[in-house]
Amino acid sequence: MTWGEARGLARFHPAKMAYGGADGAVAEQEAMEASLEADVNLFDTAAMYAGGASERRLGELAEGSELLIATKFPGSFGFRVDDLPAELEASLTRLRRRSIDLYQHHFPAKRLSISALMGHLADAVEAGKVTAVGVSNYSSDQMREAHAALGRRGIPLASNQVEYSLLHRQPETNGVLEACRELGVTLIAYTPLAGGLLTGKYSPDSRPRGFFRRILPRYGRRELQAIVPVIELLAEIAQRHGKVPSQVALRWLMENPVVLPIPGAKNGEQARHNAGALTFSLTPQEVAELDSASLAWRT
Ligand SMILES: NC(=O)c1ccc[n+]([C@@H]2O[C@H](COP(=O)([O-])OP(=O)(O)OC[C@H]3O[C@@H](n4cnc5c(N)ncnc54)[C@H](OP(=O)(O)O)[C@@H]3O)[C@@H](O)[C@H]2O)c1
Repeated sequence: MTWGEARGLARFHPAKMAYGGADGAVAEQEAMEASLEADVNLFDTAAMYAGGASERRLGELAEGSELLIATKFPGSFGFRVDDLPAELEASLTRLRRRSIDLYQHHFPAKRLSISALMGHLADAVEAGKVTAVGVSNYSSDQMREAHAALGRRGIPLASNQVEYSLLHRQPETNGVLEACRELGVTLIAYTPLAGGLLTGKYSPDSRPRGFFRRILPRYGRRELQAIVPVIELLAEIAQRHGKVPSQVALRWLMENPVVLPIPGAKNGEQARHNAGALTFSLTPQEVAELDSASLAWRT
């Protein structure tokens, strides 16, 4: 989300403003190389991120690699269902690809018919331009509608990308996790490190940079104080496994077979650390301890 060289107004896009931007082109390349070396082969982007700059950068870095690309449409809020074929072509061009591995609808909107949209996506699958169809920020009812519409064309709904972490457990209470389980849909967990909070590197005395992390209450001093017990438990469990807190936070999500976290890395070191979540497991008791320490973030 933070990758790519945004120009003009795109420099002020929320994806750029949220955490203060990535660490530069070399760091992005190192992040990709570190990920691939550690067998992380799925990269998520969106047409909207920095006005297409994120897709362009991913396309550039991924050229000639076998890695899987997940992207999202639309590129702007004025999108209508009939714009889908043109949106798809624009993403394919930016990504330098003939097809997109996972094509996701970024946000539902009342004025957009889910079944008409899924019809266009099914056409794109049949035309070989999209391999799998996903949605993002869909409620459980919206997911069911998308799943049924695609099902009429014999195409599965692959995923619903929603915010999910130890500090944002609403998918467990709003029906989305349950619907994913029931329908065989992967829950792709975005912001799985709570925007860096679950790394344990931020505290009331060391607050994060980036416009959103300066203004949103969840990154404020009070919240940074409230999460201390969760960070302490993550650190304690991490020590047992020779890991760091962020890896335990990611692993807590991965212990659920329905869930796939997509942490955002700004450089090679962060990417290497995040990939370290692939090489250990938590015990059921450790999962239960983390469940109980983060109960306040369940609703
Ligand atoms: N579908 C949607 O609506 C939606 C919304 C948001 C995000 N997403 C997707 O989800 C991805 C990840 O979410 P996210 O970037 O919001 O949140 P995140 O993964 O929870 O946090 C990412 C931030 O945490 C810090 N960080 C990451 N790994 C670290 C490590 N190992 N050690 C120390 N710090 C680390 C970095 O910022 P600092 O170094 O500055 O702390 C990084 O920018 C995005 O790239 C995007 O593809 C989707």
